[in-house]
Amino acid sequence: MSRTVNVGILGAGNISGAYLKATKLFSILNVVAIADIDESRSKAKAEEFEVPLACSPEQLLSNPDIEIVINLTIPAAHYPVSKAILEAGKHVYLEKPLSIEFKQGVELLALAESKGLRVGCAPDTFLGGGQQTCRKLIDDGWIGDVIGATGFMIGHGPEGWHPDPEFFYKKGAGPLFDMGPYYLTAFANLIGPFKELTSSAQISFPQRKITSKPKYGAMIDVETPTFVAGVINFENGAVGTLLTTFDVWGSQHRNIEIYGSEGTLLVPDPNTFGGPVRLLRKDAKDYVETPISHGYTENSRGIGVADMASAIQSGRKHRASGALANHVLEAMHGLLEASRTRSYYEMTTKAERPVALPLGLPGDAVDE
Ligand SMILES: NC(=O)c1ccc[n+]([C@@H]2O[C@H](COP(=O)([O-])OP(=O)(O)OC[C@H]3O[C@@H](n4cnc5c(N)ncnc54)[C@H](O)[C@@H]3O)[C@@H](O)[C@H]2O)c1
Repeated sequence: MSRTVNVGILGAGNISGAYLKATKLFSILNVVAIADIDESRSKAKAEEFEVPLACSPEQLLSNPDIEIVINLTIPAAHYPVSKAILEAGKHVYLEKPLSIEFKQGVELLALAESKGLRVGCAPDTFLGGGQQTCRKLIDDGWIGDVIGATGFMIGHGPEGWHPDPEFFYKKGAGPLFDMGPYYLTAFANLIGPFKELTSSAQISFPQRKITSKPKYGAMIDVETPTFVAGVINFENGAVGTLLTTFDVWGSQHRNIEIYGSEGTLLVPDPNTFGGPVRLLRKDAKDYVETPISHGYTENSRGIGVADMASAIQSGRKHRASGALANHVLEAMHGLLEASRTRSYYEMTTKAERPVALPLGLPGDAVDE
């Protein structure tokens, strides 16, 4: 029987509501405090979600009752804030990407290891019922040997809906660093680690106009590529194509398709937890929608933290791990580097495929 783990949240912006809602789904997690450099935000969220304490980031880090801190700050703050959390002797689970610079990701993992602490990182959507069903179909051989995959994250950017969209167009964001982690984590979970990558990347529009409120009409200078067409060679020999863009008004490409020697698997949107999962076997006339084999098909953001809390207690590895996020971070860094240098980037990190979730888990469990 697991004990409840006290959790603090650092960063009370847009995504914090989703975490505050979802962490209530997992009885192993007990959110005791929330902090933000903007005190009004932490106070408002504490009130809305009945968090016992709204405090300053410093107070949160020195609170001896807190074991895990969830870092929900903007990407540019992921590294310094996560470093401060680890230096305060607490485990950290953070939103993607692990950091802006690959070397900072490496440094965070080394710091955690030296202190016997854990680093966990979003996305945790690969633990949802949709992707776990795909994982089981692949592991059970329904599409044979995986030979290739495509991933398409095609859209027109967040400046039409996010209240504070500037950071999406700065270093460490853009479509690759913002949305790429969902696709690359799905690829790493379903197919395995990456070996080498290349891409062509461009800034199609150097300025963007904000059309959301309250900053309607303000212009953003774009500082990171917004159209990145990549190729990934996996360790197991499969070849992947990944397009991430904030520049396109419409497309009919599917999110992720996995091609095998015996068939094709249509993977659901990796930014969601559910299905549908569709499978075409080589001798079949058409795709069939396969039943979802695992739970967590509704928005279960926080399952990665719950899994880490449970793993800390049993001593096993956690699934949404810093090592996996750092492999993904290196891949994103590598894609842009390869475009800049017109070459292939050779991966230096390896990440094991995270252990699949067992079938038939009861209630809010992540372990049998
Ligand atoms: N908004 C989404 O739909 C969404 C979805 C998935 C993941 N994410 C990720 O979640 C993270 C946060 O995104 P968001 O949309 O909530 O951003 P946001 O700008 O709405 O909120 C970030 C919050 O962090 C606070 N902050 C910044 N630096 C800080 C520091 N040093 N110490 C303490 N607080 C600090 C800001 O004051 C702000 O309240 C990003 O990494 C993003 O990639 C966002």
